[in-house]
Amino acid sequence: MDITISESYEALSANVAKEVIELVHRKTNAVLCFPSGDTPMGLFKVLVNAKREGKVDFSGCAFIGLDEWLGMDESDEGSCKYFIYSELFIPLGLSPEQTYFFDAKAADLPKECNRIDQVIFEKGGIDLMVLGIGMNGHLGLNEPGISPDNYSHVMELDKVTKVVGQKYFPAETLLSKGISLGIRHIMESNRVILMANGKRKSDIVRLVVEGKISNQIPASLIRNHPNAALYLDFESSQSLRI
Ligand code: PGA
Repeated sequence: MDITISESYEALSANVAKEVIELVHRKTNAVLCFPSGDTPMGLFKVLVNAKREGKVDFSGCAFIGLDEWLGMDESDEGSCKYFIYSELFIPLGLSPEQTYFFDAKAADLPKECNRIDQVIFEKGGIDLMVLGIGMNGHLGLNEPGISPDNYSHVMELDKVTKVVGQKYFPAETLLSKGISLGIRHIMESNRVILMANGKRKSDIVRLVVEGKISNQIPASLIRNHPNAALYLDFESSQSLRI
């Protein structure tokens, strides 16, 4: 896994955006997957500005949502869909035909997981997945202990996620399960970019990079991906021994 350390969050966001834009220039119908959360907000701003300035055209691309809190949709302020639509999909002016997102209120959740899996298979797989790293090393809502063989699935949330996830919501919110693309989607994606910023991520970044490759730290599994990169800002890199 290549590691790029940028001096600031702004530089980190710009470096990841550069990769995304170069890919879309090469492959105008790229299949892209972005996370929600705090980590990608700077990246989203750069992408939205680039689109406004005519430097990139996403009109041929497909966008796949990574995950959602079970039982929520875009009307829940703090849901993943709320974040990614308001910060990326709407500002980019994407059409509904370009965006695919879990319905985390679906009555038949296995069918909903299968629907998203089929979208990805029919499109020939994901070209680029950008992922944040959870405080417990999760990717999407693939929590510690996850099977690496899963495609889309529903999972019980780890206690760290239930606590840390409160930051997205205006009031205390009961979080119990999530629906998420699986580790297998990530491992089969052509390119994977993990992003982390800030001092609070430095310990988990060290475990991801220098610890044992284990499903107890899901992000560590990406070290087995043949085309993965880790983009850090200076602060999140500070516990690394390299
Ligand atoms: P964050 O979340 O970007 O809000 O830090 C990352 C994650 O939990 O995957």
